[in-house]
Amino acid sequence: MAVSSYIETDRIILPLRETNGPDGIRICVLPTEAQTAIFAARSIINIPIHKPDATVTFATGNTMVQPYAELARLTATMGVRWSDIRMNHLDEYGGASANDPESFARYLRERVTVPLGIINAHFMNGTADNLEHEAARYESLLTPADLVILGIGPGGHIGFNEPQTPFDSRTHVVQLSEETVSRDTARGQTKRTHAITQGIGNITEAAQILLIAYGKQKAEYLRPVLYNDITPDCPASALRLPGVGPKVSLLLDCEAAAWLNL
Ligand code: GLP
Repeated sequence: MAVSSYIETDRIILPLRETNGPDGIRICVLPTEAQTAIFAARSIINIPIHKPDATVTFATGNTMVQPYAELARLTATMGVRWSDIRMNHLDEYGGASANDPESFARYLRERVTVPLGIINAHFMNGTADNLEHEAARYESLLTPADLVILGIGPGGHIGFNEPQTPFDSRTHVVQLSEETVSRDTARGQTKRTHAITQGIGNITEAAQILLIAYGKQKAEYLRPVLYNDITPDCPASALRLPGVGPKVSLLLDCEAAAWLNL
């Protein structure tokens, strides 16, 4: 099933196993979370190098902490310029202000736009008086991204597209699922019930989609994505739609890929 290969850049050798998933999806597996994060950063940095005016949609969450830190380190080491890149926001909690430590806007400012030197950054306003209007405003700014960076959450959600979200959805306001609310409150975060998210239609129209995941819990989310039906019951299964799968790479550590039996 797996072909072992080694990539060598910047004097780091990463033991990468690459395999073909269903519907054209590429699956890259590395032994540890740290190695997966390094590989992810090395994949993402190709964007500003090869297309300096590209549009990139950045996810947030625990998963992205290490890849973004490595991306900042690589950017400085290699002297890569992000100043003409356009940064889009994937999702935001309703009620979270740009300075709230739990807001995705603050996360992206601290881990992405400032360290990478991105000037052309477009944020969602989680404290807008009318979130529906804010979603519409944000949608009007979007063009198909060159790269979307995704994590995966409860119920196979991508962004905050919870189960039953239509595959052609655009930027919209969502009511968070009980599973998502429980996950967040278990992390000690404020209880939040609504969010704005780019839709599955926005995500799947991107030229390239990178989904990063580590750990056993993510393996549970990913298994139905790859092996059950393509259905809005599992939002991330949209990544297998015709014409979408070949644009998708999953970057996983061994635990998240446990069921692949590599
Ligand atoms: C959250 C966010 C996603 C994120 C995902 C994984 O709910 N809406 O954008 O990618 O779930 O988060 P984490 O990496 O913290 O597990």
